[in-house]
Amino acid sequence: MTDEQLLGLARAAAAKAYAPYSNFLVGCAIESVDGDVATGANMENACYRLGLCAEQSALTAAQHQFGLDKIARVAVVGGSSEMICTPCGGCRQAILEAAQLGGRDVEILCGNGDGSAIERHTISKLIPFGFGPANLSEGEPA
Ligand code: THU
Repeated sequence: MTDEQLLGLARAAAAKAYAPYSNFLVGCAIESVDGDVATGANMENACYRLGLCAEQSALTAAQHQFGLDKIARVAVVGGSSEMICTPCGGCRQAILEAAQLGGRDVEILCGNGDGSAIERHTISKLIPFGFGPANLSEGEPA
């Protein structure tokens, strides 16, 4: 699938976000190494702190569809046309979990709300010196 197709699926997911409090709609599409795709969107709650980011919602779907360890690319889009939506710190940590499980760097495509601007990143650049499952397994007996 092309970058534009994956970003398009993320935009379609954003249209199904439940974000009545921020009105900031975010969508995420995650592609596996085999070309399968899982999507998700942010879901807010009247108890504000319980809101769920689009990436975490898509990561949950990805785990059920093909497994976190198979994740190759993540597309995130949202907000206005003014600014590109990059994953928040918590979502970077959640994507790092998948990257370390799979033993591969994960590509992150980020876009603004209307698809007129994109950026390409990798999780290793977005969360350098991160702490993940690889750290916990260091030094464990075989
Ligand atoms: N949001 C995401 O879904 N992903 C991010 O990486 C950034 C923020 C959501 C959370 C909240 O529902 C809204 O955007 C405004 O912060």
